[in-house]
Amino acid sequence: MPEHAPSDFWWRTAAIYQLYMRSFADGDGDGTGDLAGARARLPYLTDLGVDAIWFNPWYASPMADAGYDIADYRAIEPVFGRLADADALISEAHGLGIKIIIDVVPNHGSDAHPWFAQALAEGPGSPVRERFWFRDGRGPDGGEPPNNWQSIFGGPAWTRVTEPDGTPGQWYLHLFAPEQPDFNWGNPAVRTEFEDVLRFWFDRGVDGIRIDSGALLTKDPALPDVSPDEPPGPAHPFTDRDDVHDIYRSWRAIADEKPGRVLIGEIWLPDAQRTAAYVRPGELHTVFNFPYLSCPWDATALRQVIEEALALNAPAGAPATWVLSNHDVDRPVSRYGRADTHFDLARRRYLHGFPVDLALGTRRARAAALLTLALPGSVYIYQGEELGLWEVQDIPDELRQDPIWRRTGGEDPGRDGCRVPLPWSGTEPPFGFSPPGSPGEPWLPQPKEWRDYTVAAQSASAGSMLALYREGLAMRRHEGALRAESGLDWLPARDGVIAFDRGDVRCVTNLSEQPAGLPPHAEVLLASDPLADGQLPPDTTAWLRA
Ligand code: GLC
Repeated sequence: MPEHAPSDFWWRTAAIYQLYMRSFADGDGDGTGDLAGARARLPYLTDLGVDAIWFNPWYASPMADAGYDIADYRAIEPVFGRLADADALISEAHGLGIKIIIDVVPNHGSDAHPWFAQALAEGPGSPVRERFWFRDGRGPDGGEPPNNWQSIFGGPAWTRVTEPDGTPGQWYLHLFAPEQPDFNWGNPAVRTEFEDVLRFWFDRGVDGIRIDSGALLTKDPALPDVSPDEPPGPAHPFTDRDDVHDIYRSWRAIADEKPGRVLIGEIWLPDAQRTAAYVRPGELHTVFNFPYLSCPWDATALRQVIEEALALNAPAGAPATWVLSNHDVDRPVSRYGRADTHFDLARRRYLHGFPVDLALGTRRARAAALLTLALPGSVYIYQGEELGLWEVQDIPDELRQDPIWRRTGGEDPGRDGCRVPLPWSGTEPPFGFSPPGSPGEPWLPQPKEWRDYTVAAQSASAGSMLALYREGLAMRRHEGALRAESGLDWLPARDGVIAFDRGDVRCVTNLSEQPAGLPPHAEVLLASDPLADGQLPPDTTAWLRA
């Protein structure tokens, strides 16, 4: 490990705010969040007490998948602003002591990317088609897809193009929507291009890169059929193949050109050991902890997930990460308020059938927040989590935007429910999301009940979720033991309770239905809900001075 000042390792213990720009704050009044809105609200994030912001893709995009379909990796989407706004935001954030992480999407681009347009125009055999996965179809007239791969968003992973002469032509691969053609990472131009994109943004002052769909980049060039039960790994034709690690070794060398830069992988795999391989020395710095985000509200399961995360990251010297939600999953207050609290993307359609007990879900989400903030490593907060917003499950069908909803014929409700624009102030939509008198409506409708959940309302209320996050983040920052990179000692606890020491801070969470006694302590530092007669009520976390 190179000798750098400790601040070069900021990411090892950082609290990182995920800013989903379309829904954060709208500066120009068109109903979609933008860079101007984000810049104006930076003081909110300093008050909240975060160390870094992760921006979802902000590049020029037709928005077929909310910006994960990128037409130009070096330009800002005009709806969000201009490159100069991004530069200004980076420097203003740095002035406030906040680092900037951006999202890079290497698996696929957009069908509006100039390479794809050129590949279509030049026809079969063009070297530019080699930067994607163009193949002839099967069957006598090539009318069948080249193989049986299915899109992660539903439907076949192949779309047939019309050739420049007007005839039905080749097919191209898209593991996501048809507007997101997959790049061929076996092609040297693709590698060079992305290395250049990384340098472009690092040179502009960006501190970190979140790597989208990080395990999918390389494919078996023979493009064989896949059976649904083939596990990800070396034998799988497109998930977690061994050669994907070569890419990250070269990216790490680029990140290491200057100290303090971090690569964060979206590596969503069933096998924890295979996931841990991405943080080996010389590869990524950290990966998201998806088992934690999916884990049911159950003491045994949670403790096991925590122990595994610590054990898996330790050999590589990587910090664990703690993630309760993001822009792809159900919001925690809804997830924890259902009879089935185990989340998984494949189960969303089924989970939305359960009634949600919001009071219970909120209580658990508060307890989960303090548990999360007490764990060693870096922690992610998805915008709105700090306000206790819920998954909006009743968005009218005609307003839904997520391609998952469309491509599954409405069977999977998709991700719009966690992407509804934030409520800032006032008692009526748009709740300060857009400036007063704006012509544009928020791009997704906000529930009227969010009048009680605005930043302004919660700032004035000591018992609010926002107040809890502010206090928890402040204490995490100032209590040396909580901020330490490592050190977690489990304490004996009865069934349904998890308890551990971080130095002189003791964290206890009661996930059972009965009150629990508190372990010996000198002082109660913070609790997610009031204690009763010195007991820890159900679904509550307390931080104690040991
Ligand atoms: C990742 C993103 C998700 C996106 C997908 C395709 O999983 O988090 O939002 O739709 O990749 O880019």
